[in-house]
Amino acid sequence: MWLACSKAPEAASPASPTGAAEGAQAAVGAEPAAVPSLARKYADFFPIGAAVNSRTLKSHADLLVQHFNSITAENEMKFESVQPTEGNFTFGPADEMVAFARQHGMKMRGHTLVWHRQTPDWVFSNGAGGNASKEVLLARLEKHIATVVGHFKGSVYVWDVVNEAIMDDGKFRTAEEQEPDQRSKWHGILGTSYIAAAFRAAHAADPGAKLFYNEYRNYLPAKRQAVYEMLKGLLADGVPVHGVGLQAHLSTEQSTDPSNHAYYQSIEELEKTIQLYASLGLEVHVTEVDMSVYVPGQKYEPSQFLTVETFTPELEARQAERYGQFFELFRKHQQAITSVTFWGIADDETWLSQFRSRRTDFPLLFDTKHRPKQAFERIMKF
Ligand code: GLA
Repeated sequence: MWLACSKAPEAASPASPTGAAEGAQAAVGAEPAAVPSLARKYADFFPIGAAVNSRTLKSHADLLVQHFNSITAENEMKFESVQPTEGNFTFGPADEMVAFARQHGMKMRGHTLVWHRQTPDWVFSNGAGGNASKEVLLARLEKHIATVVGHFKGSVYVWDVVNEAIMDDGKFRTAEEQEPDQRSKWHGILGTSYIAAAFRAAHAADPGAKLFYNEYRNYLPAKRQAVYEMLKGLLADGVPVHGVGLQAHLSTEQSTDPSNHAYYQSIEELEKTIQLYASLGLEVHVTEVDMSVYVPGQKYEPSQFLTVETFTPELEARQAERYGQFFELFRKHQQAITSVTFWGIADDETWLSQFRSRRTDFPLLFDTKHRPKQAFERIMKF
């Protein structure tokens, strides 16, 4: 289900016509001050991005144009979207995003070339019920990357080349992980060699593009270290890697359970991560920031799911406070951090409300009516 999106308030529109409004202004007094632009406020730090899909590109266009100067396709550049069946490349929805970015002078991030999810089964299949051979899978990986990166050459300036190759415990993600949706057939067939091969293929297709490794929960010490070792190894082998993406799907509260990943979701741990990756001379992009209002690992009954009514100003203030702390950290490390992207635009459309649980979440800077939340005010205050 996709919620219909309300129109952004007039005040948020950069180009709201003044004629009629001036008449009203005379009658009711001063017009509310226009909401200042987030991207403009951060112009001396880093571009501010948002993940978009084909709907939000239209329904949230006013917010996008006013507050963001970079976009990422939420799904439209993923393997299953651009090559659903072998050799049939479909670029229409992604091309629309590229055109939007160009029209509004925004940067376009490319996401993502090689991932264990959202990749069609044919990629790993020999067509006779078994796995593709190493040679066939490598050829498919190379053809996919050459075609996709080649298509967007000159439009997409940075690619998340490989997404999520390492598990929370620091081991490479294999084809034998317990949960089926955690398994990587890339690794199952090619071992870790698919990672370097993907970066090399991307570089060959567009030598001017920046190439990133993207990962989640990088604040976990074991995972942080494993990603570091992997990147260090790739660089030592002369593999063209230019940066690391920190997804940064955050939560308003850390977990109090040491066995839960969010126990480590602190400013201190994320700072160590940024410093460690920067020590390799790599750029850091925060690629998918949002902030769930639920505590990871805690069980919630449907009756405890928050709604627009029960997401109180106090809860919003708590979220704003934590957003403020993370953005302070990002600004502090502006030498290393060269882009910060939100995974969505406003609370009326977020993967967290659509994902698995169906519980409504409120993770972004703008509310379901596209009005700036306290978190917006907070990260604008410095
Ligand atoms: C990961 C991926 C994103 C997106 C989110 C939420 O973080 O990198 O592309 O799919 O999961 O689903």
